[in-house]
Amino acid sequence: MPPVATENSTSDAVKAETPTPYLSTMPDNDFNWQITLGQKVVAITGANRGIGLGIAEVCLANSAKMVYSLDLMEPGEDFAALQKRYPNFKFIQTDVTSEESVEKAINQVVEETGRIDGLVANAGMTKHQPALKFDRSELEKLFNLNVYGAYFCAQIAARKFIELGIKGSIVMTSSMTSYRPNRAAPSAPYGATKAAVRNMCHTLAMEWSKHGIRVNSISPGFVRTAMTYYVETAPDWDLKMQYYGGMPRLADPRELGGAYVYLLSDASSYTSGIDIPIAGIVGAW
Ligand SMILES: NC(=O)c1ccc[n+]([C@@H]2O[C@H](COP(=O)([O-])OP(=O)(O)OC[C@H]3O[C@@H](n4cnc5c(N)ncnc54)[C@H](O)[C@@H]3O)[C@@H](O)[C@H]2O)c1
Repeated sequence: MPPVATENSTSDAVKAETPTPYLSTMPDNDFNWQITLGQKVVAITGANRGIGLGIAEVCLANSAKMVYSLDLMEPGEDFAALQKRYPNFKFIQTDVTSEESVEKAINQVVEETGRIDGLVANAGMTKHQPALKFDRSELEKLFNLNVYGAYFCAQIAARKFIELGIKGSIVMTSSMTSYRPNRAAPSAPYGATKAAVRNMCHTLAMEWSKHGIRVNSISPGFVRTAMTYYVETAPDWDLKMQYYGGMPRLADPRELGGAYVYLLSDASSYTSGIDIPIAGIVGAW
């Protein structure tokens, strides 16, 4: 017989949980309504290049106290150029597919700065090929980084926020492919990972609101990075752009940054569980 205890053990576990006092995110009376990351320490996964680096630049331009890139690869020239302008931009070598590595990185951030206020789960990858060709190991690789990586980064950051009594903000990078196919370069498994990312934010936001933790996502469309450099090289790209409608260009990663800054800042104290699609209305849906 299959086990039948699931429902009972779940409700027992819920009952056994000691009630936590609700940590309100309501701003104080003297709150500064300017949108700023002043005094905030933010960790961004995969910020050595691409969208993560663009987010880092806009966070730094909006007064973040410290921004950490938690990335697998050694920083390159683009990272170094930004660090030259902002010495408060740092790198911790991290593999987001390893909980141990993420925990170590978050602990290092807190040891160095005394706090952590925001976590952007941004590191991700894609693989474009026809759906009929994917094998299990390719799907596992995508889910391991995009879904499990984002989940455990959020969980580890949330535990740290709770431990420190910080009203933290978590932002995940989802994708427009979480809503509909990318006609220029289809990848069914990638879209599924990004739908999972967008979806998990709803429940995490609900579960963690009592701790004063907010969880949101952002869904970029076409952004010019190493992940998408080839889409513009297609001979029929101009025609495709006309066909897709909206703004006939790719985004600069920094054009997404304002939304991340908003969601990481205290100005969004009543915003949780939402997704912001940023896609230049390309391929309107
Ligand atoms: N570029 C786009 O058009 C686009 C659109 C929608 C969503 N996205 C999403 O945005 C995010 C960033 O994409 P991008 O275009 O900047 O990609 P990118 O490949 O340029 O950058 C990804 C970064 O993540 C890092 N990374 C990879 N595996 C890692 C790991 N295990 N641990 C830590 N870091 C790791 C890489 O070293 C790299 O620096 C991804 O989640 C991607 O799915 C991108």
